Amino acid sequence: MNNQEYDILVKMMPEFQESTVHIKNPAKVEEILCGLIKGGATKLQIITDFDMTLSRFSHNGKRCPTCHNVIDNCKLVTDECRKKLLQLKEKYYAIEIDPALTIEEKIPYMVEWYTKSHALLVEQALQKSKLCEIVKESDVMLKEGYEHFFDKLKEHNIPVFIFSAGIGDVLEEVLRQARVYHNNIKVVSNFMDFDENGVIKGFKGELIHVFNKHDGALRSTQYFTQLKDNSNIVLLGDSQGDLRMADGVANVDNILKIGYLNDRVDELLEIYMNSYDIVLVKEESLELINSILRKIL
Ligand code: TMP
Ligand code: MG
Repeated sequence: MNNQEYDILVKMMPEFQESTVHIKNPAKVEEILCGLIKGGATKLQIITDFDMTLSRFSHNGKRCPTCHNVIDNCKLVTDECRKKLLQLKEKYYAIEIDPALTIEEKIPYMVEWYTKSHALLVEQALQKSKLCEIVKESDVMLKEGYEHFFDKLKEHNIPVFIFSAGIGDVLEEVLRQARVYHNNIKVVSNFMDFDENGVIKGFKGELIHVFNKHDGALRSTQYFTQLKDNSNIVLLGDSQGDLRMADGVANVDNILKIGYLNDRVDELLEIYMNSYDIVLVKEESLELINSILRKIL
């Protein structure tokens, strides 16, 4: 890292000095930040992942659940089913984060994981009416500073696109219970399909998995066309697949990609630093993003 360039950036934002912050090209980050600040609220939009980006990866040394895990761990799922879901997770999560495999090599495995896992959830005949309680009793947690993050974006009416390969029904309930599901937020995710008795019968629409977000982004062109003047983007993610969440955006003037690196840090840091503008290592807070928003808004 060029020290002089980094000093200029730290002068602009002292928060970048934190040991969790890793930036390969400080001059580029400074340039993007200047563009974002200049454009202000009118040009801004947020595109963000959910699991392990807005939600926590761990708390007090214990892993936190993804949207799927909220269901996996709930008491309405049988022990036998839970065991199968955990076995799937063990096998396929290792593939998801394996630095030795390319995204193309990982895709068939992700499709396999989602297909098997969703089929098991359908077998459990989950009821829509139980989701509220399931989320309430779960250990899911949003990252520190989430209130400020969502409230500030709402206050300035900044469009927030939450693009998740998790389960949309769970995600929405998490936001609702945290009282931050404001009307500037649009969620695109895997939504459960319920029969007339409110029992799950499948999932709606095309499957969104960790590594096909570019396809999903391109299906959201109608949303992005409405936002054609919002050409300044802050993108938040935790996976290499999240980098393509903005593929459907009509006009891009400035895009700042911020990536949370939660697992296998030593092996993945270089890859993350080469793809995300700012990498936050084992960080369970949204504070850095909040400070950037304070500069822009
Ligand atoms: P995200 O796009 O919001 O991060 O959600 C996707 C995460 O969900 C990804 O890390 C894989 C994870 N997942 C599970 O935890 N359990 C499952 O059964 C499946 C299919 C995915
Ligand atoms: Mg994620």
